Amino acid sequence: MRSKIYAPSALLASAQLLSMTPVALGELKIDLNKPDTIKSAAKTVVKSLLKDYTDQRPLTPGILPSKYGFFEAGLFFNTILDYAAWTGDNTYNSYFEKDFFNQIGDGDNFLPANFSASLTNSDVGYWALTAMSAAEYGANPADSSSPSYLTLAKNVFDNYVSRWDAKTCNGGLRESIFAANNGYNIKDAESNGAFFELAARLGLNTGNKTYLDWATKVYDWTNSTGFISQMENANGGQVYFSAPVEDNCQQIDQTYSSALQSNYIYGAAAMYSATKSQSWLDRAVFLAGFSAVTYFTPQSYVDDGSSQVATEQACEYNNTCATDQKAGKSVMFRSLAAAITLDKTKTILNRVSVQLNNSALAASKSCTTDGNCGFNWSKQMYNATEGTGVGEKMNAVECFLAILRVGNPVANKQVFGSSPATQPSTTQAPGSAPTASNPTSSGLPAPTASGQPSGASFQAAGGFLSVLTFISFLYLLL
Ligand SMILES: *[C@@H]1O[C@H](CO)[C@@H](O)[C@H](O)[C@H]1NC(C)=O
Ligand SMILES: *[C@@H]1O[C@H](CO)[C@@H](O)[C@H](O)[C@H]1NC(C)=O
Ligand SMILES: *[C@@H]1O[C@H](CO)[C@@H](O)[C@H](O)[C@H]1NC(C)=O
Ligand SMILES: *[C@@H]1O[C@H](CO)[C@@H](O)[C@H](O)[C@H]1NC(C)=O
Ligand SMILES: *[C@@H]1O[C@H](CO)[C@@H](O)[C@H](O)[C@H]1NC(C)=O
Ligand SMILES: *[C@@H]1O[C@H](CO)[C@@H](O)[C@H](O)[C@H]1NC(C)=O
Ligand SMILES: *[C@@H]1O[C@H](CO)[C@@H](O)[C@H](O)[C@H]1NC(C)=O
Repeated sequence: MRSKIYAPSALLASAQLLSMTPVALGELKIDLNKPDTIKSAAKTVVKSLLKDYTDQRPLTPGILPSKYGFFEAGLFFNTILDYAAWTGDNTYNSYFEKDFFNQIGDGDNFLPANFSASLTNSDVGYWALTAMSAAEYGANPADSSSPSYLTLAKNVFDNYVSRWDAKTCNGGLRESIFAANNGYNIKDAESNGAFFELAARLGLNTGNKTYLDWATKVYDWTNSTGFISQMENANGGQVYFSAPVEDNCQQIDQTYSSALQSNYIYGAAAMYSATKSQSWLDRAVFLAGFSAVTYFTPQSYVDDGSSQVATEQACEYNNTCATDQKAGKSVMFRSLAAAITLDKTKTILNRVSVQLNNSALAASKSCTTDGNCGFNWSKQMYNATEGTGVGEKMNAVECFLAILRVGNPVANKQVFGSSPATQPSTTQAPGSAPTASNPTSSGLPAPTASGQPSGASFQAAGGFLSVLTFISFLYLLL
């Protein structure tokens, strides 16, 4: 929330007032068979999402407005990376090439001094997973003296290994990093899920067995601690939130969320791709099957697109989702799309295809042509009174991108070499031995293409602000 009004903001505020006068804005229109319509929808929402970032006063690079947690800024950068990779539009690349690096901290491990005191392992984890995505796509920092994205991801992995605590619960990461904080007495599936997914993707992309072994260890610990509900239960495949260490994790808090579930789905699919072991595919399908029947509602199929639409089950029905929870579906769509791509047997795709299609159609109806999106897509309309936010917009963008990814699972890596901010890259190729098995969605990033000139995103954003300011002046003159 903004606490101070600066002079430029006052002008902006009048522009916002202007836009708040009731003008009936249409919904976004997409056709699932026409990728250009989906790219265009993603573009509209991303533009609005970026405005939420650039409109902050003051703007601290890398951080969202203060109502959003540190982890959510990590998700924000992942969404922009995914947007570039799956639409081929590099307009916003400078944000993850530059602003992102403002929050890596002195240790290059996402513990920036302003926030480090209160951060959890999962807060840091979402930034590390974003760095992992950037490394997979072959993105490069604007400043060639910055650590590579892969180095950042590896550093967080090393931190996690050093924080693994075998003294209680036979292992696991604690929720909090520091002993003085709430949550230090908890071991949670959010932190361990981030560790699992990070280790699995590092293993898949580098071929280094240390990562694969840790991924196996974290998964086995999660399961044996009882954080994954077993097949014979009605809620088989469900990932539970946490347990306190005092009694060695006997009392499981069965809170659940789509994002929590998704880190395990993505990790298991990455392990399947890296090892070709059927048991990893079975786990990925088991976990994705739970998502398919729980995080998409109503379940009973109706042939008009209104059933099986993405729902944050634990809080959406009674309208109790907190700001943090409102970003969860973005993690779900990113993870399901990645898992689908990693599973050449198409078992996961068959499990969630209706869900993705119906969600994308419902999301488009829940977004307006100016890029605002609601949270409850089952309503199939945008309600300005209920409003929008960074989470709501990221959810829609990742949902649209999931449709594009399923249709054409080859990321556009050229887009990361053509930004004006990118230094000529000769030494940045991260990783050691790529796994030969999965050239489309893993393996070493392709060498970056030589820089082609194009508009800088800051200039674009600045131009947009001046247009708004100009409108404000006109408005004041009237
Ligand atoms: C830390 O917070 C201060 C005060 O808000 C701000 O000026 C500075 O840019 C922040 N540093 C980073 C790295 O975000
Ligand atoms: C594999 O990764 C581990 C953990 O980061 C590292 O210590 C080790 O040196 C790596 N091995 C190789 C061959 O790169
Ligand atoms: C998970 O743990 C249960 C017992 O806690 C065990 O029966 C089952 O085989 C384990 N599953 C996996 C996939 O490791
Ligand atoms: C909302 O629904 C969830 C899931 O059904 C439940 O756990 C929670 O207690 C409910 N909250 C309120 C305030 O009713
Ligand atoms: C969303 O909105 C619809 C229509 O108003 C309502 O029936 C439903 O309970 C809300 N929540 C969910 C999770 O669908
Ligand atoms: C989802 O939409 C795509 C694109 O139109 C289509 O190929 C696919 O068959 C649809 N899935 C289902 C289950 O209808
Ligand atoms: C919009 O949301 C408000 C607050 O939840 C509600 O009172 C109103 O009926 C909704 N409008 C429509 C058209 O659904």
